[in-house]
Amino acid sequence: MHSNPVLPPHGPLTLENAIRATAKAFDAANLDYGHGTDNALDEASWLLLHALDLPVDVAPDYGQPVTEGQRRHCNTLINRRLAERIPLAYITGSAWFAGHEFFCDERALVPRSPLAEFINSDFFGLFQKPESLVISPPQRILDLCTGGGCIGISCALALPEAYVVCADLSKEALALAKKNIEKHAVQDRVQIIESDLFERIDGQFDLIISNPPYVDEDDIASMPDEFHAEPMMGLAAGKDGLDLVRVMMRDAPNHLTEQGWMVVEVGNSQPAMQANFPNAGLTWLEFSNGGHGIFAVPATQF
Ligand SMILES: C[S@@+](CC[C@H](N)C(=O)[O-])C[C@H]1O[C@@H](n2cnc3c(N)ncnc32)[C@H](O)[C@@H]1O
Repeated sequence: MHSNPVLPPHGPLTLENAIRATAKAFDAANLDYGHGTDNALDEASWLLLHALDLPVDVAPDYGQPVTEGQRRHCNTLINRRLAERIPLAYITGSAWFAGHEFFCDERALVPRSPLAEFINSDFFGLFQKPESLVISPPQRILDLCTGGGCIGISCALALPEAYVVCADLSKEALALAKKNIEKHAVQDRVQIIESDLFERIDGQFDLIISNPPYVDEDDIASMPDEFHAEPMMGLAAGKDGLDLVRVMMRDAPNHLTEQGWMVVEVGNSQPAMQANFPNAGLTWLEFSNGGHGIFAVPATQF
């Protein structure tokens, strides 16, 4: 337990100094990042801006004082992050994905997929017709393994004409997705289905997009504490991480329109995917904002 407050209870303290003190404590505690930030300073900024009710997407006045009352609240959150080693998003109750804020809690993984960049970059031109250079956006989208719904909902927000199905096997995750669908007021275009992969999915889709569980046995064994706070059902996928993706590759053709694409994140299981599906015509997407291990495959390749 960290009983000494990280922020001094008395005396002058600016926001900048509060952030630096918090980052120093995070560094000293060897916290793991990767659930929205990748370093102690960003993690400390996010925690304090949240605690002080300041927007996280606008540069704050770093010289502003942090009052003694505010420090008590900040210290409580800082101590939770240090002692419990759970992702900060579970403490703040919210996470940002593709420029949108989502409710976030232990029922689903913390949103962090590089697919945010894919969605916000016109789906990397996959739906651009080469002959006319006219973009024909996907009309029907399936977000398989949706968790709290961040991918499907962001697709719906990017494409106001699209109809989206968000599917997951976890009732708990889908309850969170429902809250997020209501938060973003897309109930009329985003449907939730409880399904074991495609088992209860009807019809064809122009885009099947998925960040399924894909962590292999070795990576599961060496995961830092923060990842153990997330539902294991959202991470583990057998010896080589491909248990679910194999089923998706088998069943996707029944659920893709002729011009459809399936886009799937497999992260560190990319080499296993290449070894298992050498002739599947997978295109590995490249991301400017970081991230790897996401392939796209058109219906015509199956
Ligand atoms: C890596 S999480 C992704 C969550 C969300 N899409 C995201 O990007 O943050 C994978 C999700 O797959 C779900 N899942 C696990 N096995 C499943 C299955 N057989 N069928 C459908 N969903 C499954 C888990 O409940 C979890 O919500």
